[in-house]
Amino acid sequence: MALLVVVAGALGVVYLIVVPSLEAELIDAKLDQLEEDALTVVRAYGIDIGSEQEFAEETASVVQARVVVYSLLQNQLFIFGDSNTSQSLDVARDPVARRASLTRKIQRGSVEREGRRFAEVAVPLENEGVVILLSDSLADPISSLNLIERRLLFAGLIALLFAVVTGYAAASIHARRIRRLERAAERIADGRFDEPVVDGGNDELGDLASAFERMRVRLEKLDRARSEFIANASHELRTPLFSLGGFLELMADEDVDEATRQEFLTTMREQVDRLAKLATDLLDLSRLDAGRMRVEHEPVDLGEVARTVAAEVGALAERSGHAVQVVVQGRPVARADELRVLQVARALVDNALTHTPAGTHITVRARADREHAYIEVEDDGPGIPPEHAPHVFDRFYRGDGTVASGSGLGLAIARELAQMMDGKVVLESQPGHTLVRVVLGAAPTSIPAPEAEAPVFT
Ligand SMILES: Nc1ncnc2c1ncn2[C@@H]1O[C@H](COP(=O)(O)OP(=O)(O)OP(=O)(O)O)[C@@H](O)[C@H]1O
Ligand SMILES: [Mg+2]
Repeated sequence: MALLVVVAGALGVVYLIVVPSLEAELIDAKLDQLEEDALTVVRAYGIDIGSEQEFAEETASVVQARVVVYSLLQNQLFIFGDSNTSQSLDVARDPVARRASLTRKIQRGSVEREGRRFAEVAVPLENEGVVILLSDSLADPISSLNLIERRLLFAGLIALLFAVVTGYAAASIHARRIRRLERAAERIADGRFDEPVVDGGNDELGDLASAFERMRVRLEKLDRARSEFIANASHELRTPLFSLGGFLELMADEDVDEATRQEFLTTMREQVDRLAKLATDLLDLSRLDAGRMRVEHEPVDLGEVARTVAAEVGALAERSGHAVQVVVQGRPVARADELRVLQVARALVDNALTHTPAGTHITVRARADREHAYIEVEDDGPGIPPEHAPHVFDRFYRGDGTVASGSGLGLAIARELAQMMDGKVVLESQPGHTLVRVVLGAAPTSIPAPEAEAPVFT
């Protein structure tokens, strides 16, 4: 429709403005030429001595136009000579000549006689009491103009047809592509992410389609992650719950002796602890996913964190036969959230205790350089095999043969928390040595210490 309106509008402008002005210009050019000729004829009139009729005929053959000589008697015009004798002698039909006789000035204009148009110039000669009129047919310029008009009309119709066809084709192609995108959007809105959004176009619609496709891929990934998360979480919840259920049944049995009962209670307590830890971890993850986890960016003394965590696990480490050592170099202060840093450090120390055999040495080190403050947990346990290393930060990922109590969320949460505090967690592991490093931004009050410097507190 828009193309049609534009083309029709352009044609209208050509017809209403360009064609009439072209016609006026053509007539004007003809009149200019006639006027020039008329002045030549007038000059010849003074010299000529023959009759008016002879004069008209002779000059007409020179200027190639009809020449009429009127005489002005008592303000009335009479034709004295006319090069075209077949023309009527009725002066009433010569408005230009009459205007010239009345105004006593050169007059020009176009007149219509018997359906034909003429350009006419009339020059009054006051001294002689004569008006000389030159008249020439406008058939030539008008027929060229008609030809131009016809051609224009023809070209215009072709242009209109072209506009309609291309406009319709372009519109229907676009409409089809838009409808396809619309269907894709509806599919995605209905939660069906299997079919890709395709559009081969290189234009804005193509860009929109690829944005849709990126959105679909991302939503598909999120959807899969969500289902996996729910499946994993329910599985993790089910195991301790089933175990608790089983022990409850056994305890209901009257025959259980006191020693076994105590053993059952210990195991049940462990399962409840495990459930409580899992619930806390799941809550943290859901807060992280929903973006509702708030972390502070305050100065946190990492030496203090290292000492606190080591003290917390002291009794446990003693029972499991692990040696825990704290090394603080300089005065490392991070810009972070104290509770969250403690949580991350606890998860790392917990790993070093649970995934290594008795007799393993664990070092909790806090240090800093100019830009960063670090808390590192190092152990000389078996290490993480290279094939597992890339996955240990995934949610619910547990290494082979890992103690069943873990749910594989510790490192995943640690990494996400570190990221929330503009930091990261990196892992370096080889057989006999595992180091997990939390890298945080250093606070202005942080004091770096050279690597070689002796530990402040061990
Ligand atoms: N210090 C370590 N030595 C050896 N293996 C480790 C060590 N730390 C982590 N891992 C391996 O990485 C896996 C993932 O650790 P992560 O802390 O995420 O889970 P988890 O300890 O199994 O369970 P959770 O921490 O939720 O109780 C562990 O299952 C273990 O196989
Ligand atoms: Mg762990």
